[in-house]
Amino acid sequence: MKDANVREMNYLEKQDYYLKLIAEIMAVRKRGDKPVAFIHTYGCQQNVADSEKIKGMLHQAGFDFSDRPDDADFILFNTCAVREHAEDRVFGNVGALKNIKRKHPSTLIALCGCMMEQKHIAERMYNSFPFVSLVFGTHSLQNFPELYYRALFTGKRVYERDNDDKLIYEGIPTKRDGTFKGWLSIMYGCDNFCTYCIVPYVRGRERSRKSADIYKEAREMINSGYKDITLLGQNVNSYGKGLGEDISFAKLIGEIDKIPGDYWLRFMTSHPKDCSRELIDTMANSQHISKHLHLPFQSGSDRILKKMNRHYDRKKYIEIINYAKEKIPDISITSDIIVGFPGETYEDFKETLSLIREVKFTSLFTFIYSPRLGTPAAKMDDPISAEEKSKWFQELLTVQEEIAAERCSSMVGKKEKILVESLNQKNGKLQCRNSGNIIVECDGDESLIGTFQTAEITQARNWILRGKIIN
Ligand code: SAH
Ligand code: SF4
Ligand code: F3S
Repeated sequence: MKDANVREMNYLEKQDYYLKLIAEIMAVRKRGDKPVAFIHTYGCQQNVADSEKIKGMLHQAGFDFSDRPDDADFILFNTCAVREHAEDRVFGNVGALKNIKRKHPSTLIALCGCMMEQKHIAERMYNSFPFVSLVFGTHSLQNFPELYYRALFTGKRVYERDNDDKLIYEGIPTKRDGTFKGWLSIMYGCDNFCTYCIVPYVRGRERSRKSADIYKEAREMINSGYKDITLLGQNVNSYGKGLGEDISFAKLIGEIDKIPGDYWLRFMTSHPKDCSRELIDTMANSQHISKHLHLPFQSGSDRILKKMNRHYDRKKYIEIINYAKEKIPDISITSDIIVGFPGETYEDFKETLSLIREVKFTSLFTFIYSPRLGTPAAKMDDPISAEEKSKWFQELLTVQEEIAAERCSSMVGKKEKILVESLNQKNGKLQCRNSGNIIVECDGDESLIGTFQTAEITQARNWILRGKIIN
């Protein structure tokens, strides 16, 4: 094919074209019967969803997947930049791939994801790890086949960081990791610029998918047996902004809820500044939306919330929570918290403790503040020592353990609909979840995995429940 013809293709035609070429090369170059890829994903569900698209493309090019990097013809790390710890792990694990490359020189090693959208990090990785052949950022996902082909065909290293952060690419094939639990992206990017957060810089501007594309995908997932579907976005409550449709997130999820079938709908993440009563009402009146609200509050101190640029205060947060509890009495509420934001005092931190005591969360994702280069918070004065922050952090965990244990004990004796997810190899129990996203462990046969059951809760062990399947 002539270069000019390829240039005129749209991105989907290009994808098909390059995936065919990759298949041809790999038919010769593969080490086993079929070409094999190892994909490791760090970070949030957004990254997991992106990896599922890359797997979809590789699957189209004839690849199988392995969880052993040693077996692979292609190794990809999809990276996360949200905290320093996440980045350090990637640096360590990429370093360790050197031995694999030495053993199997034909294996092609690639890096993608959020870390690669930070110029200083992407360059550092590219320069530190000469055995990495391909580097691309989150905005180049749709070009993956072309980039991979270029690295394979030329044998030269490929480094691509695109600035196109405003577009949506429909129609990329997806190979989901799960057969009954799956992610459905409804929007990409974030415009909120919380002062501590790198996400808006590495994921680009907020943009929503057309509702018709989302309904179509939801219908396909439900019809092919998905039982637990999570709608994904950094701030799902602002879904639809700039789309030119008469729609809100509440309306979107309300419409999906009308699709017939036996399934749960979840969503994350909600931002308290945009979480509407309309959404809570929709949840309360729905057939399928789970009784779970993940609503990160980050800090209980109004002073710190302001410095974080969160656009709500403690009072507003509590108002939404109380409204949700009133409309959906057994709702399970979870949250994210940052401890030790620059300038936070112990007095501020105590406000966070008092908020978690007031709300009684089912569980919390707790993080010690990690400065991210290029964000406003990284330039703020941060006089509290790491040891002190870690003491506060421990205090928070202890308080939350008590609350979670109390909340779980109150469920003993109740009957709960559960989805059986997996077999816990350690204790031989079936690992299940209720609508509130609480883990319920039950005795039972592996054949139940992927089905809904009813369990009677017999015991609470901190934040995990034990139950007996009764139907
Ligand atoms: N869009 C989501 C969260 C995305 S990041 C929201 O707004 O809730 C997931 C969580 O990581 C955040 O809720 C926050 O608690 C935490 N986080 C983000 N940046 C961080 C940083 N620099 N240091 C520590 N925790 C951070
Ligand atoms: Fe980060 Fe805030 Fe956007 Fe969430 S809403 S991704 S915390 S900037
Ligand atoms: Fe990490 Fe990127 Fe998600 S920075 S938390 S993988 S959006």
